[in-house]
Formats: sequence, structure tokens, C-alpha cells
Amino acid sequence: MRTSGLLLLFLASCGLPDLGNGGGGVTEDALLTQVEEDLEYYTEWDQAEGIEGVLEDVSGFHGPYIQAWYNDNGLESLYVAADGAAAVKESYDDADGTSLNGLTAMRYSVDYGWFYAEVDLDTGDFEETGRVDECIACHEEGDAFGFLAPTVHEEEK
Ligand code: HEC
Repeated sequence: MRTSGLLLLFLASCGLPDLGNGGGGVTEDALLTQVEEDLEYYTEWDQAEGIEGVLEDVSGFHGPYIQAWYNDNGLESLYVAADGAAAVKESYDDADGTSLNGLTAMRYSVDYGWFYAEVDLDTGDFEETGRVDECIACHEEGDAFGFLAPTVHEEEK
């Protein structure tokens, strides 16, 4: 993987001892609570123009079919992360979106950066939360800094 300056900066900031839990004015616990709320309400959020409904996954990680919702802050800042932007994505086995096989969320805070969460569908608990390396590897690769679905599916057209 190509390591961007941004990622290096990001990684460096993780190592600073005086940044505390959240690296600023927000704690991981507070972000986790917000993401738990996001997961309760995301189906009432809107989808991004041009990528509504079930899409074929292009990541090779989510999928094979996906659908994503964005909160208001997220829709206003699809390509560049902004404070309070959040998204939730469902993955499915089928093109109709009836067989759910994955649920992930991400939320941006200027004080923390991207907070990621993956739900274990068997238990309903989180599998992983926070600065998850696996998610960062794709979502913050190179110059990527906003949401991926609008970017990659926009390029497809
Ligand atoms: C192999 C690369 C890859 C990995 C690893 C990955 N993602 Fe994604 N993700 C994508 C791509 C590409 C999209 C755009 C939709 C698609 O899959 O076609 C996406 C879409 C999303 C979305 C919808 C919001 C958006 O960016 O448009 C969420 C939420 C999300 N991923 C969360 C996660 C979480 C949480 C993890 C870690 C558990 C993760 N992703 C790991 C590539 C990846």
C-alpha cells in the first residue's frame, strides 16, 4: 500500500501521549455512542444522489452487493470529510438486498478523524470500533479522505 503523507500524519498523531483517548475534544466512548445512535436511525437518512438503492460492490471487501445511507452532514460533504459526517452501509448476498451479510458504519470528527465500526450480525455487538487498520487501509488510502461509495461509483459511470 502506498502510504500518504496524510496517513503518516494521522499515524503520528495516534502516538502522541497527551492527546488522550479521543485525540482532542471528543472521546472514543462519545463517538461510539453516536455511532450506536446512527445504527438505530440510518434507514431514515437519505442516500447519495446517483447511488441510491442496492449497488454492486466494487471494493471486493464489502458485498457482493451494498447499499449506503448518509446523514445530513455527510451528504453535504461526500468527498471531503467534515465534522459530524456519518454513513452506514449494508452488504448483501443478493442483488435484491434481502440477505444481509454485513453492517458497517463510519463517522468523522475533526478532533478524532474517522471512527469506524463493524457489527457482528450474529450477536449484534461490535466486532471492531475506532481507528480500525483494516478499514483505514482502504478508506484513507492515498488521497482518499471522504466517502468512497460516491467516489468509486461516480467513476464507474
Ligand atoms: C478493500 C477495501 C475496503 C475495506 C478493507 C473497507 N472498505 Fe468500506 N468501502 C470500500 C469501498 C470501495 C466502498 C464503496 C462502496 C462499494 O463497496 O462499492 C466502501 C464503502 C463503505 C461505507 C459506505 C460509506 C462510503 O464510504 O461511501 C462504509 C460505512 C464503510 N465502507 C465502512 C467500512 C468499515 C467500517 C470498514 C472496516 C471494517 C471498511 N469499510 C473496510 C472499500 C473498503
